[in-house]
Amino acid sequence: MIADPEPASAYDKAAAHDIDPRCVPQRLDHEPPVGDAIPYPDYPAQDHANWRFLFERQMALLPGRAGDAFTSGVDRLGMTPDRIPSLASMSRRMQDASDWRIARIPGLVHEQDFFALLARRLFPSTDYIRGADELDYTPAPDCFHDMFGHMPMLTERAFADFYALFGRAALGATGKDRTSLERLHWFTVEFGLVRQGDGLRIFGAGILSSKNEVTHALSDAVDVLPFDPDRVVEQDYDVWHLQPTLFALDSFEQLVDGFSSWAKRRRLL
Ligand SMILES: [Fe+2]
Repeated sequence: MIADPEPASAYDKAAAHDIDPRCVPQRLDHEPPVGDAIPYPDYPAQDHANWRFLFERQMALLPGRAGDAFTSGVDRLGMTPDRIPSLASMSRRMQDASDWRIARIPGLVHEQDFFALLARRLFPSTDYIRGADELDYTPAPDCFHDMFGHMPMLTERAFADFYALFGRAALGATGKDRTSLERLHWFTVEFGLVRQGDGLRIFGAGILSSKNEVTHALSDAVDVLPFDPDRVVEQDYDVWHLQPTLFALDSFEQLVDGFSSWAKRRRLL
């Protein structure tokens, strides 16, 4: 008697249909490893070289463009160009800074799993890096975007508090509120700008981890509007092109307060 073959995983099915399996959202069927329980992968030398290339290229573009909270977060997490950082070690540093920790996920996760982790102050991160042929663009999540783009801001207390509130609000949202929350996420966490004493700066991960977005975001080609949740939720976006419209915060406290009152009015908090 021949045993039944293993049921195909979402990855196998995607590969069979010629879809990049890293782009298929997966449901988490068990608790992902968190903090010190995350092992450090045995990365080949090429992976560390890809990290170094991406890290050095972005860091060279960021002076005068990235916000102070981001820049100090890179230091605080101990990121260097030498090697892909350890999720366990960054999780410890993040916990000290803002009481967030890191959960290692296998790729794109289903949005309910994603929101549930955020609500528990757990940042979902991959630990694999894009290939040498994808250095300018990858459609899939990878640890350069997750670590370099997102984690520094999670050492900023007010931003970190906002992101946990976002997760809580999103868990119960349906219909139009779901679309509104996607837009709020896009125009803050991924593409947000902030006004600081010396001018307009970037804090969104989608900009800070992309060579093209980082040079575009503060250029005259972008229409920058003041952050107002009621306005942001009306703003559609297109993931395939450079962003023509962005929103600027006055402070991260404004983000916490503005988001909380919007979400309470929508009965999401
Ligand atoms: Fe992201």
